[in-house]
Amino acid sequence: MKPHVGTHAAPGAADAVAAPRRVALCILGFGNVARRLCEVLTARERDLAERFGLELVVTAAGTRSHGSLIAPAGLSPAATLRAAGLEPGDLQSAPAAPAGWGFAAPARPGAELIAASGADVLVEATVQEEGGAATAIAHVEGALARDMHVLSVNKGPVAWDYRRLADLAVAHGRRLLFEGVTMDGCPVYNLAARCLPGTRVLGISGVLNSTTNYLLDAMAEGRAFDEALAWVQAEGFAEADPSHDIDGVDAASKTAALANVLMDARLTPADVPRESIRAVGAERVAAVRAAGRRLRVVCEAEVVDGAERLPVLGPPDAAAPGDAPPAAGTPATGTDPPAVSAAVRLVEVDADHPFFAVGGSMSTVVIRTDLMGEVQVVERDALLTQTAYALYSDLLSLPRSR
Ligand SMILES: NC(=O)c1ccc[n+]([C@@H]2O[C@H](COP(=O)([O-])OP(=O)(O)OC[C@H]3O[C@@H](n4cnc5c(N)ncnc54)[C@H](OP(=O)(O)O)[C@@H]3O)[C@@H](O)[C@H]2O)c1
Repeated sequence: MKPHVGTHAAPGAADAVAAPRRVALCILGFGNVARRLCEVLTARERDLAERFGLELVVTAAGTRSHGSLIAPAGLSPAATLRAAGLEPGDLQSAPAAPAGWGFAAPARPGAELIAASGADVLVEATVQEEGGAATAIAHVEGALARDMHVLSVNKGPVAWDYRRLADLAVAHGRRLLFEGVTMDGCPVYNLAARCLPGTRVLGISGVLNSTTNYLLDAMAEGRAFDEALAWVQAEGFAEADPSHDIDGVDAASKTAALANVLMDARLTPADVPRESIRAVGAERVAAVRAAGRRLRVVCEAEVVDGAERLPVLGPPDAAAPGDAPPAAGTPATGTDPPAVSAAVRLVEVDADHPFFAVGGSMSTVVIRTDLMGEVQVVERDALLTQTAYALYSDLLSLPRSR
């Protein structure tokens, strides 16, 4: 079994050893998020070495149509960007990659790259597939089988197969971390596990898809659906194919991920009924606005049976912050999981509702607990760097002691 990542007892320990510990990454998917991660790692190279005792190198990277990289000796994140014909940019700029960028070697299957990487950590940053997550799940399994930790910003594995993959990670003594799958880098899973230990999560509700925020607000200003969509796309707030957002697929995946991790549900996105905003007529939008309300796409999940079997949040035996598994609760063993119902619904919210002001690139989730009441997390102005930060914070959460 490979050693853990890093050698220090705690982040920022004053007695940092001289040579940073080298940690090799295999990055699958080298799109906006992975490229921004390399920029963050480049910008933070000194912090990583001096404060955290880490040197991050990339030994493999893969894309679908922009080639692949295998570098057994390890490239710095900046050199990895250059190998793809890119320059590290500042962390504020838009992520447009120039035409013709890509790694020199042809694209290779993820399994081949994982095997060749000899890496300590897999960064899963590919896109979620239609109707499942088989490719990303295979990447996670392949990496765990090689005793790699896994950091996923792809929702697929957590939304479709969380419990089995979490158990697999435990069996291999490795961590499966995924802070970025729901609210970019804003702490939801880490907050629940680290800051609400001993509680049980009875339900969640949230506004978790910014494209629909923009669309609904544009319609509230009087635009018809098609006109609002064209405006939102022109402003860069929606993909060329925004159907995943509009039809609630993205929101259903986030709902399933939250329910699976925080409430030990065994949901998939296919189990989450969802309302599309395509059918919202201009008349309804106008009526809602006239009543002083707003329409929001709301993700909900709640325990309907078996609250006593909910996992207790927080690790039972956390010796040090870096050793705490930040994501999961501790499900009761040998018992049926609690029954959890979930849905993505179009909801009219009043001006005093906590979701009323959550528009544009904001997102929020309310976590309803048994001992701490309701805790609301709000992310303001999510940008790409925040998503890359999710991976960065997960990297720094990996165990540092043997
Ligand atoms: N962008 C955000 O702010 C954000 C926020 C939260 C979560 N996420 C999630 O983060 C992930 C990455 O997002 P992104 O914005 O970086 O997407 P992106 O720009 O579209 O990049 C996706 C990358 O994955 C590659 N890819 C797709 N399928 C692959 C496969 N089977 N094997 C190897 N590579 C594959 C693509 O290859 P090509 O380069 O050839 O296309 C591309 O390099 C997604 O799952 C997304 O939902 C993104």
